[in-house]
Amino acid sequence: MQRQKMLYEGKAKRVYEIARDDAYLVEFKDDATAFNGEKRGQIANKGALNNQMSAHFFRLLEQQGIRTHYLETLSDREMLVKRVRIIPIEVVVRNIVAGTLAKRLGLAEGVDLGRTVVEFYYKDDALGDPLINRSHALALKLATREQLDELEARALAINESLTAHLHACQLLLVDFKLEFGVTADGELLLADEISPDTCRLWDETTREKLDKDRFRRDLGGVEQAYEEVWRRLQQA
Ligand code: TMP
Ligand code: ASP
Repeated sequence: MQRQKMLYEGKAKRVYEIARDDAYLVEFKDDATAFNGEKRGQIANKGALNNQMSAHFFRLLEQQGIRTHYLETLSDREMLVKRVRIIPIEVVVRNIVAGTLAKRLGLAEGVDLGRTVVEFYYKDDALGDPLINRSHALALKLATREQLDELEARALAINESLTAHLHACQLLLVDFKLEFGVTADGELLLADEISPDTCRLWDETTREKLDKDRFRRDLGGVEQAYEEVWRRLQQA
């Protein structure tokens, strides 16, 4: 499919206009960043793996009635998606304590939260994507009250579905980040990607980290971890 103007270049993806007004082409890159771009690197073959893994998860969610922007996998690194305006809120879902939650609240990494925690972050690189609450989101007009309710409800439904699917792959879904968008017709869709860049995934038995924390924390074996997740997903 012929790429036209590049609309957006993010840390891990590029988004292009194509010759239809209801879709975009997304290209997945090997580039990896952490800590709001302070740490930079590349993860070999990540673009292709994340493209395949995201498509796998989007198809799974669609089968379960959760609407996503996914249309078609075009090539190794290219996905065709529905055109949406991204809501500038990152929705983070947490089942087990890790990452910034451990730091912020002084909790030990690895402790089961007992109930699912949903957080909103304001998607703004210059501010370092700060944690916000519902009234901040409303005051900043990032979304309506109804949309915030819907984001939370969808995030919980997605968590249930992904947790069960990943359990079948002997993977623990520790936490993950979602982004949503609105089509020209006003339909709310899950957008962005679902991959080891945006999820923490631990081996259920050994609790070995099989996600981007291997890059963030210099643990080595980053490519192998992404490949292992993809291998297990294909077997499920
Ligand atoms: P955190 O513990 O660093 O706040 O991350 C929570 C989850 O969100 C984790 O699965 C990684 C994911 N995440 C992203 O996908 N993009 C980001 O920019 C950040 C900070 C986290
Ligand atoms: N991708 C994000 C960044 O560079 C953060 C992360 O995934 O840790 O800021």
